[in-house]
Amino acid sequence: MLVIIKDDYQAVSKEAAQLVANRLLTKPNLVLGLATGSTPIGLYQELIRRCRQDGLDLTKITSFNLDEYVGVPPDHPHSYHRFMREQLFDHMNLDPRHVHIPNGMAMDIEAHCEWYEEQIQRAGGVDLQVLGVGANGHIAFNEPGSSLGSRTRVKTLSHKTREDNARFFASMDEVPRYAITMGIGTIMEARELLMLVTGESKAAALRDAVEGPLTAMVPASMIQMHRKAYVIVDRAAASLLQGEHSASISEASLTRRRL
Ligand code: GLP
Repeated sequence: MLVIIKDDYQAVSKEAAQLVANRLLTKPNLVLGLATGSTPIGLYQELIRRCRQDGLDLTKITSFNLDEYVGVPPDHPHSYHRFMREQLFDHMNLDPRHVHIPNGMAMDIEAHCEWYEEQIQRAGGVDLQVLGVGANGHIAFNEPGSSLGSRTRVKTLSHKTREDNARFFASMDEVPRYAITMGIGTIMEARELLMLVTGESKAAALRDAVEGPLTAMVPASMIQMHRKAYVIVDRAAASLLQGEHSASISEASLTRRRL
């Protein structure tokens, strides 16, 4: 695991976009795992900018999103389908057949979750999975207490997560209670992880994830078990870290720090 501390949100977004761009150079048909939430928006904006200005090409990728609310139709303003369209997909020419987001309206959710796992396998597995972290240490919608080997399934959202996400809805009552989410086991099978953590409100979650004990109560702590994980954070999020960390991926590789 490599923790990289950048000055601010913009620098985190640029460093993350550079890593994605590097992977696209070696594998244009990258299988990219995508995340929602405010944190990766800067990364998506930077990718869009690089597509327009630098000729970065995402048209051959296959994407898999981490999660979606149950009972929220794809066109709902707060669905993750809609979020991804607005933040990324509408700005580039992706093949819709290669874009995957769990369907929160599936009639048979269990069968849908199995199908989603099969699609990931058929695509050859996720090459690079983008991740954010919830203030309570969740990844995707794997709330504290989630099985560390879990697969794609329905999870009940915690009160804290519903409160945190209430800002996107008209009232707390409207915040969905359930979500379909890739499991921790599913996420851990990605060949590389790219976790982004920014802002003071995430400082404790980041500390617990990268320097705390491995525990199901902090699902993000599983990143310590991954063989190739990058954790790119800003100074505010890093304020409670005690270990020594690098300022960039290139510096880290120069000093031969091990992943
Ligand atoms: C939601 C998503 C997570 C995301 C988290 C943090 O719960 N399911 O994937 O990491 O929010 O979001 P934000 O980046 O807005 O803090």
